[in-house]
Amino acid sequence: MASKLWEKSVTVDHDVESYTVGRDREMDLYLAPYDVLGSMAHITMLESIGLLTADELHTLLDALRDIYRGIEQGEFIIEDDVEDVHSQVELMLTRRLGDIGKKIHSGRSRNDQVLVDLKLFIRSRIEDVVKAATRLFDTLIAQSDRYKDVLMPGYTHLQVAMPSSFGLWFGAYAESLVDDLTVLRGAYDVTNRNPLGSAAGYGSSFPLDRMMTTDLLGFDSMDYNVVYAQMGRGKTERIVSQALAGIASTIGKLAYDACMFNSQNFGFIKLPDEYTTGSSIMPHKKNPDVFELTRAKCNKLQALPYEITLITNNLPSGYFRDLQLIKENFLPAFDSMIAIIDMVEAMVSSIKVNTDILSDERYRLMFSVEEVNRLAREGMPFRDAYKKVGLDIENGCFIAPDKVSHTHAGSIGNLCNDRIKALYGKVLSEFKFDTYHEAFARLLGRENAD
Ligand code: ARG
Repeated sequence: MASKLWEKSVTVDHDVESYTVGRDREMDLYLAPYDVLGSMAHITMLESIGLLTADELHTLLDALRDIYRGIEQGEFIIEDDVEDVHSQVELMLTRRLGDIGKKIHSGRSRNDQVLVDLKLFIRSRIEDVVKAATRLFDTLIAQSDRYKDVLMPGYTHLQVAMPSSFGLWFGAYAESLVDDLTVLRGAYDVTNRNPLGSAAGYGSSFPLDRMMTTDLLGFDSMDYNVVYAQMGRGKTERIVSQALAGIASTIGKLAYDACMFNSQNFGFIKLPDEYTTGSSIMPHKKNPDVFELTRAKCNKLQALPYEITLITNNLPSGYFRDLQLIKENFLPAFDSMIAIIDMVEAMVSSIKVNTDILSDERYRLMFSVEEVNRLAREGMPFRDAYKKVGLDIENGCFIAPDKVSHTHAGSIGNLCNDRIKALYGKVLSEFKFDTYHEAFARLLGRENAD
């Protein structure tokens, strides 16, 4: 028996087979549960248009539910001479059910199977990223509230500039996550459209009910044009990885700040000893390796959209095997993103803040604008006040004003964390993950698919 779905009288060369499969079997394991769910929706639709009998459908659904359980229990494998997850599932069905198993592929191609698998995988991993990002958001807001009155120096050009606060510093990253989540929600919308039924990229002469599979899989709508549905391969991954890159960019900046502020030359924050690493030669070292690796991991994630762009950029419309390689860095990227967010959340919640930085003389000049503002409030034109304070500084007779009272009423004391929380909550509520959970539960015949 031919081991490939497409092998006829000639067996493919062994080196060609290993070259073309590459790491695809390993990658397809990420997609396995979604491949089964996609097949369940497809055959339910085939029965509705008369291509399967009701008995055949029930037999197939039972077998697919068994395969799904096997995947959940970690028992599912893609055998050595089987090309991919799609072939493995069909093989398991035909081994168990004979001719009935051979009927499931009517009106579809592995091209739309992998498309739908990817969309279902991405949708569920976006949910995991959103949950992790929400934990980090909550921690950042809590730290911001906690340290809202603790001042720290703000910098421009890495030169001491104006007073800031730890409340502002933590809160800035929380608000940055609001925008990142907004972009991720857009990526979720792009993902949440059904490509199934586009088959090899040109549809089918069977009267496929694409609306039915759209509902069965809990998609918002479908990729209507079948040529466009295929063009979505690579595009969806690029858009989603751009959204992940947004979160990575926020966290990478936070990681850099944290490394810098933790250095003895700044001394603004301190990481707990158990979150630092040591040196083999210098006994005093407590290094912020976690934030350094976070920075590098975030940079790797930000490289992903470029890699996908390069793989897809010069391809015309239609399916090409090039697309397979996107999986290799894209599918594991979600695990990496979630691990980064969780680690940073733990770090942020345990950061110790130096509440007495401003007593250090070297930060005295950052109150220069406060003094200018004080003179302006007393009626001196701003430019004259600016010049007077500038000259006082040059002549060494500048006296910093009372530090807290002049800064607290302005933007430093006004964190707006409640507004930031409301913005985050609004974007979060728009994801509506329940729709697909309920759809999966129905397909699997379960109360809840979690
Ligand atoms: N492993 C393939 C991929 O990821 C599955 C689709 C195969 N289709 C084909 N026409 N060879 O693209």
